[in-house]
Amino acid sequence: MAPTRRLTGFQPTGRLHLGNLLGALRPLIAAQSAAESIALIADLHAMTVDHHPSEVRASALEQATLLLAAGVDPARTPIVLQSQVREHTELHYLLECVTGYGEAARMIQFKEKSAGGGPVRLSLLTYPVLMSADILLYDANQVPVGDDQSQHLELTRTLATRFNTRYGATFTVPEGIRPDAAARVMDMADPTSKMSKTSGTGRIALLDPPEVVRRTIARAVTDEFAVVRRDPERQPGITNLIGILAACTGQEPADQSSYGALKRQVTDAVEALLAPIRARHAELADDPAYVRKVLAESAELVRPTAATTVARARRAIGLLD
Ligand code: TRP
Repeated sequence: MAPTRRLTGFQPTGRLHLGNLLGALRPLIAAQSAAESIALIADLHAMTVDHHPSEVRASALEQATLLLAAGVDPARTPIVLQSQVREHTELHYLLECVTGYGEAARMIQFKEKSAGGGPVRLSLLTYPVLMSADILLYDANQVPVGDDQSQHLELTRTLATRFNTRYGATFTVPEGIRPDAAARVMDMADPTSKMSKTSGTGRIALLDPPEVVRRTIARAVTDEFAVVRRDPERQPGITNLIGILAACTGQEPADQSSYGALKRQVTDAVEALLAPIRARHAELADDPAYVRKVLAESAELVRPTAATTVARARRAIGLLD
């Protein structure tokens, strides 16, 4: 059986939050010794919409800093900045040659993001093809994806299969892996939707100061039942708090009737998780040269695999070596 190669992709912008930590980062860190993992920061993604060059650069570095602070060990999990391995864009082009215009235009995320009526960059249309290149470049066979990215993963599988059928076996067809439902963190202010980078007051960012964390949890939406129990339908807020507690500490609520006590317990649990990340982040933020070195070494480490895949694809599709 082929070894497990897992690729976890992160958007380059938007501050990472508790949902990312429990849903994506912790599984990535837990799998570090069992699977060959790559953490990818998709900085080219940032340019699919109107952007400020200096912000894109700063966010890329900040995202890498946060991944390190959260415990990604670059000795075992390379942290790859998409733009620093040129093969991503080369494979992107080759894959565009097996993608239909209609196929790309049908992507839900493209339709949503282009619906505003403003100018739409061509790169926004082809972004899912770039994401496919990210995955296929490293022969990844496992890709953790949330609901919002499952259509893009399906496209990746379609393109890989189509390329293999037309031009000969070239790519590994990846499987999507769903984050554990228990690690699904909902928005504190609207517990029926997932915590996301666009959540407002209901989001706990990894670097939120303790008093902000406390306040966000204190204000979390609850209900009038006054019973601490899991009931996602009728008590989504309380269910979310119980789930966060369990995901952070493995503990169950100590008091079955007090929402105040539950919130204090959750606050302590989240704080225990975030305090070391905050401290480590402060150290790393003082040493950007180290973070850049990690990125450079990671790129170096994965480049041979990327180059081999591109060479295979170039040959298969009809280019001279
Ligand atoms: N498109 C993903 C998102 O918006 C990020 C991403 C880019 C990604 N390349 C990837 C995710 C490769 C998984 C695999 O969240």
